[in-house]
Amino acid sequence: EEISWDVESASKEGYAHFMLKEIYQQPTAIRDTVERRIDEKGNIVLENISITKEVLEKINKIYIVACGTAYHAGLIGKYLFQTFLKVDTIADIASEFRYSEHNIDENTLVVIVSQSGETADTLQALKDAKEKGARILSITNVVGSSIARESDDVFYTWAGPEIAVASTKAYTTQLVAFYLMALHFGRLKNTIELTCYEEILNELRTLPEKLQITLSECDKKAKNISETIKDKQSVFYLGRGLDYYTALEGALKLKEISYIHTEAFPAGELKHGSIALIEEGTPVIAFATQSLIYDKIVSNIKEVKARGAYVVGVTRKKNEDLKEICDEVVLLEESFNIFMPLISVVVAQLISYYTALLKGNDVDKPRNLAKSVTVE
Ligand code: G6P
Repeated sequence: EEISWDVESASKEGYAHFMLKEIYQQPTAIRDTVERRIDEKGNIVLENISITKEVLEKINKIYIVACGTAYHAGLIGKYLFQTFLKVDTIADIASEFRYSEHNIDENTLVVIVSQSGETADTLQALKDAKEKGARILSITNVVGSSIARESDDVFYTWAGPEIAVASTKAYTTQLVAFYLMALHFGRLKNTIELTCYEEILNELRTLPEKLQITLSECDKKAKNISETIKDKQSVFYLGRGLDYYTALEGALKLKEISYIHTEAFPAGELKHGSIALIEEGTPVIAFATQSLIYDKIVSNIKEVKARGAYVVGVTRKKNEDLKEICDEVVLLEESFNIFMPLISVVVAQLISYYTALLKGNDVDKPRNLAKSVTVE
């Protein structure tokens, strides 16, 4: 028997696709991104960021600008900055940001998020904001990329090369970048107490392990759910608060590689139009991880269920009761509310992967899409 292999399959390290490999690399990518930023005393040290307490105190507005999956990470970043820095933050899509009016000046911080560091719209948005005097902080995965070079401050994610067009580990490490920056800046500004900082940072350091557990426990269930949704016309994603942002990312991930029509709804908006789309068997994937609004999402699940939807609930292990109202429930490791998006998104990634696989699609290189969009 002859042993034959090519460079490409070898670098997949036994995984059928780069996407699956990258999904499974997330615990390591997150560990690398976090642990490299923590010194012997257990404090966050951000090497390429020189924002001081004085600079922070002057900043009265933050914009987060990005495209695609990076924009979804930015939505979570917005929540974190508003909570921990007490500064109003706007998240915008780069191609929209470029062609609208903003009140940006030297007291504005513009955070640019880009895996590749080369996306044309994002780079141009950076340049426009810089011209208006804003301080530019970028989060990127590529050292020395155009976006990194144009920025005042850079946070490098340590995801390693991401080959699959559908972004996975870049996204979760971008979330980690926001957690670390929100904590670090909040401490500098004194808008977060030391005990709170320590507690959240300690929890952040447990996430690689929690993600590992989630991956091994949820893989099979995700595959089964994919069997049910693969021939459907549309799949809807629901969530509230941070879960809505996960819904947006889940919907994007599924449509880009399975070619199934997907949409994400903020669950409270359902009754203002979207619920008209629900009929017998319509798949709805509902994220229900945020404890303060858990009851609210439960009522929304009941509303779509009453209209015949096939509902998959994605929730914390303690909410096993959700099984009574959903067709399928995926139970996640417990963590703080702010960290649940990082844990729940892997379920969405796995569902997308298996659905595209079952449909026989080119998972790593979906039609019409490019990994890096360097033209407008
Ligand atoms: C493309 C990719 C997406 C990515 C987006 C932004 O559309 O297919 O996966 O989220 O560009 O890319 P960036 O490199 O700026 O994060």
